[in-house]
Amino acid sequence: DEHVFKGVKLHDGMLHEGSEEADIYDNLELTVDDCIVASYPKSGTTWTQEIVWLLHHGADTDKAKETTLTERFSFIEMIQQIRKVPEMLPPKLIKTHVPYSSLPRNYLNNSTTRPKVVYIARNPKDTAVSYFHFYRANRAYGLYKGSWSDFFEMFINEYTVYGCWFKHVVSWHNFAKMEPNILFLKYEDMKKKPTEQIHKIATFLGKDIDKEEVLKLTEHTKFESMKSNKAVNYSSSERIDASVSPFMRKGQIGDWKNYFTVAQNERFMMMYEEKLKGTDLTFEFE
Ligand code: A3P
Repeated sequence: DEHVFKGVKLHDGMLHEGSEEADIYDNLELTVDDCIVASYPKSGTTWTQEIVWLLHHGADTDKAKETTLTERFSFIEMIQQIRKVPEMLPPKLIKTHVPYSSLPRNYLNNSTTRPKVVYIARNPKDTAVSYFHFYRANRAYGLYKGSWSDFFEMFINEYTVYGCWFKHVVSWHNFAKMEPNILFLKYEDMKKKPTEQIHKIATFLGKDIDKEEVLKLTEHTKFESMKSNKAVNYSSSERIDASVSPFMRKGQIGDWKNYFTVAQNERFMMMYEEKLKGTDLTFEFE
């Protein structure tokens, strides 16, 4: 079942307007030492979370394997998870998929105490394909039975949970240019130059990390490593039916070519040009 919270389409188990949890959400007290990982779904959130956690915990990859990411972060629009934030030990690590303007009121109102935000974006064609498989495998999304072309129409008509990809990414990108506490990353850069990107995240977070540790993190967070790591691959999640599609599915750039028809691609690229016009935002599709 879907509903709207702060203008965002959410699903079962997520915050409702006027609830006690929505109050906790709006009054969330975070400090400059805490950190938020934000994204549109299926953009490389989990990957970024693992890197961010490790940078806050001395690159201790053994320790990272002891607990699932779900326990190490709080996914704040989930009813079950927002409740744990007040009791979390610092640094509080937060995951969210909300658009910028739907962030907790406390974040939006207090420009001096904002935590750092690492935002990750992925080219929208691969994001859509990944989201299609996630819809099919996720019980919270009702184990979607539609075809790719049904899903494609949902995606471009803003019917998917979290709504319009374009508005999400363009708005976050604009705010990232104005707020120094926001780092805007791209999945394709992480994939092509992981070591450089990990270094960039470390510098942004103000974490000292030597060359050897960066290489260790690169190895630990590459797709194959994460796919076989139970602490990050959601294989124990009751929500995901891995027999339909595992959470760690392909981890590649360009899988959209196996799904988009020529006509879909033309329609999509027209929309892409139109929506990104006037921004300096670009994406690599292969
Ligand atoms: P695919 O479905 O294309 O494989 P999110 O964490 O935001 O839900 O994003 C999930 C997507 O990121 C999935 O994409 C998943 O396989 C991919 N992914 C997760 N970890 C990755 C990694 N270390 N390297 C590359 N891709 C990764």
